[in-house]
Amino acid sequence: MKAIAMIPQAGAPRIVERNEPSITAPDEVKMQVLRVGICGTDREEASGGRALAPVGHDDLVIGHEMFGKVVEAGQGVTRVKAGDFAAFTVRRGCGKCLPCAMNRSDMCHTGEYKERGIWGLDGYQTEYVVDREQYAVHVPGTIGAAGVLVEPLSVAEKAIDEAVRLQSARLPDAYATPDWLFGKRCLVAGLGPIGLLAALVLRLRGAEVCGLDIVDAATARPEWLKEIGGCYLDGRKVPPDGVDKAIGQMDLVFEATGIPVLAFNLLDALARNGVYVLTGIPGGNRPVQIPGAELIRQLVLDNQVMAGSVNASYGHFQMAVNDLLQARLIWGDHIEKLISHSYRVEEFEKVLTQHSPEEIKAVIEWA
Ligand code: BGC
Repeated sequence: MKAIAMIPQAGAPRIVERNEPSITAPDEVKMQVLRVGICGTDREEASGGRALAPVGHDDLVIGHEMFGKVVEAGQGVTRVKAGDFAAFTVRRGCGKCLPCAMNRSDMCHTGEYKERGIWGLDGYQTEYVVDREQYAVHVPGTIGAAGVLVEPLSVAEKAIDEAVRLQSARLPDAYATPDWLFGKRCLVAGLGPIGLLAALVLRLRGAEVCGLDIVDAATARPEWLKEIGGCYLDGRKVPPDGVDKAIGQMDLVFEATGIPVLAFNLLDALARNGVYVLTGIPGGNRPVQIPGAELIRQLVLDNQVMAGSVNASYGHFQMAVNDLLQARLIWGDHIEKLISHSYRVEEFEKVLTQHSPEEIKAVIEWA
């Protein structure tokens, strides 16, 4: 079968031949890959950035945002059956620490985890994949093609869930209510797929959402945000330290830009007792200058929390599925418009190297 693979740090992905995997244990699930999303991580890998081949191999099959159809399930599998749509999660535990033993490898202590398509395990840009049932998330058929959004949405779900849990642990008004986000003022910085999906979750929870980016208001991403009731702020007109003057202070800031200097300067927009969650992974090592004393003074005197969040647990994948179902009820096929570009497998080079300003989520169609 065909697969898209590359030698880590050398970039230059190519089409390779791999053996079709088969089920070898009762708890395994085999899926036909239908479509796989492309994100910043894939593009970073393809340009020679962070990636690791499986032990004993030179190259790595890329792709981690998968959506597929179950073609065979081992005798012991109960969560999915042949014909179901599903997605496999990304991270696999180290086998040594407690979080990994609890299927929470997203919180691995040792850092010796692996990630399919990114770090030490082949990914999903291929025709068929096999993995264990504990990593297979059932996606109801009504979600349709938007099932490819389950993985990036799970990343946003985890970050927001963490922010809310932090607030619930420390704010008297937050632990008294299960819906702390309702009516809260939230800023989403960076309107790529993760930022827009975060905005979707926040809107579903009843929050006010403003999105910050550096594109014209009349382009795909701000327009998509407006349709779900969010407002747009053009970062070319409003500097990061001017956000609070323009739209007021924010109870929650969700950062999805991966631009360190912007990320730090946006702290200025955070309200007293606010929570700030970072999800962007910056490339490179260029140092930045920030007003350190001022920022630390503010964090301390205003009781603020700044947290980083990566990957997602099985439960966050399930939250993503539930939120896609709910979003479809409210906004119909608007959700599918997030998938702005579809490519054939042969067009892999184009999708990994080009990024049109009108692109929201690009996917490779395998079947
Ligand atoms: C993926 C995560 C992964 C992270 C770090 C992201 O693009 O969506 O699943 O943990 O990269 O490798």
